[in-house]
Amino acid sequence: MRGALQMRLWTLAAALVLAAVAPVGAMGQTVKVGIINTYSGPFAGLGEQLDRGIRLYMKQHEKELPPGVTLEIIRRDDTGPNPEVAKRLATELVTRDHVQLLGGVIFTPNALSVAPLATEAKVPFIIMNAGTSMITTKSPYIARVSFTLWQSSYPLAEWAAKHGIKKVYSVVSDYGPGIDAEQAFTKGFTDNGGQMLGAVRVPVANPDYTPFLQRAKDARPDAVFSFVPAGKSATALMKTFGDLGLGQAGIRLIGTGDITTDEELQNMGDVALGVTTMFHYSAAATRPANVAFVKAYKAEFGPTQEPSFEVVGGYDGMAAIFHVIEAQAGKIDPDKTMALLKGWKDDDSPRGPIYIDPETRDIVQHEYLRRVEKVNGQLENVELEDLGFVKDPWKELNHQK
Ligand code: PHB
Repeated sequence: MRGALQMRLWTLAAALVLAAVAPVGAMGQTVKVGIINTYSGPFAGLGEQLDRGIRLYMKQHEKELPPGVTLEIIRRDDTGPNPEVAKRLATELVTRDHVQLLGGVIFTPNALSVAPLATEAKVPFIIMNAGTSMITTKSPYIARVSFTLWQSSYPLAEWAAKHGIKKVYSVVSDYGPGIDAEQAFTKGFTDNGGQMLGAVRVPVANPDYTPFLQRAKDARPDAVFSFVPAGKSATALMKTFGDLGLGQAGIRLIGTGDITTDEELQNMGDVALGVTTMFHYSAAATRPANVAFVKAYKAEFGPTQEPSFEVVGGYDGMAAIFHVIEAQAGKIDPDKTMALLKGWKDDDSPRGPIYIDPETRDIVQHEYLRRVEKVNGQLENVELEDLGFVKDPWKELNHQK
C-alpha cells in the first residue's frame, strides 16, 4: 500500500518538474480573448445568438491558426444592459486574466463603460453588436464589426419619404440606439418632405408597448417607425401592434431589422407580414456565402434555427480577430492590431462585402431594403433592394472620427 502511494507521489513530482522545465517555445503562444456578452437574464437570447456566431467561426477555422498558436476565449456574463457590471468584468479580464483582446457586448451602455479601459490598458476591443454611432469615437482601441442604427434608419427614412409614406410616428427604446434610430429617421424623413407626427421612447427593461402604440395609433400616421432591441422585445412589440389593430387601421410598420429579427420571426406570426425594414443582414439572403453559412448554422444548432444578425456579428468579429492573430503570428501588439483592423475587409461575409473604415474604425457594409413575406410557409425577411455600401451617416454628417 505504502509503496504504491509513494510511487504515485514520485510520478506526480516528476510531472511537475517536467512541466516547469519545458521550454516556453515548445508550448507555443496562447492568445487570450475576453468576451463580455449577455448570457443570462431577459436578454440572454441575444447573447446566445452572438455566442453561436463565435462558436461556429471557431469550429470552422480554429485549425487555420498559425502553428503553435492557441486561442483561449474567456467568457463573462454582463447579464444585460448593465454598464457597471460590464466595466467590472472588463477590468478583471484585463488585470487578472491578462487578455490581449476584448470582444462582444450586445448593449451600448456596456460598450461605453468598457471604452475608457480599452484606452488606458491599450487592449483592442472588437464590438460585435452594440450599435450607437458614437461608440467608436470613445476609444482609439475600438473597432466595430456590427452596424449602426444610423446606417439603417437614415436610408429607410429616405426610402419611405419617396414611396408614399407622408406621416410617421416614431416608437423607440429609450437609450442610445433607440435615440440614434429616432434622430436618424427624423432627419432623413423630414429632409425629404416627410412629416413626423410624434415620437415616444419606451423603457428598455420590461416594456409594455400598449400605451405607446395606442398613442401612435391615435395620431393616425401612415406608418409607425420603430427600433427596439431584437429578440423577445421585438416579438412583444409586434404582438402589441397586432393586438391594438394598427394594421387594420391602415398603419404600416417600418423600422430597423431588429424588429423583424430572423430567429424570432416564426414566433411573431402573420402580424409581421409586410413589415418593411432596412438592415445589413437577412437569413433569407440568397448570396452563396449566406446560403453556405445558414446551412452550416443549421447543421450545428438545429434545422429549425435561423441565424440572426447577432450571429453574424459574432462570426465576423471572430474573422477580424483571426486576421490580427494570423498577421502577428499570435504575438498581439495593440497598436499593430488596430492598424490591421483599419481597412480589414471580407468580400464574402454572409451579409455581403464588408470593411472597417480606416478613418473611423467603424463597419462599412451594404444595406438592404427587406419585407417580411411567406416563402414555403415560413416568414422571411426577403431582400428587395441592395443599396450598396453605406458608411455610418452620423459620422458622415457630423464629420466625427
Ligand atoms: C445596443 O444596445 O446597441 C443594441 C442592442 C440590441 C439591438 C441593437 C442594438 O438589437
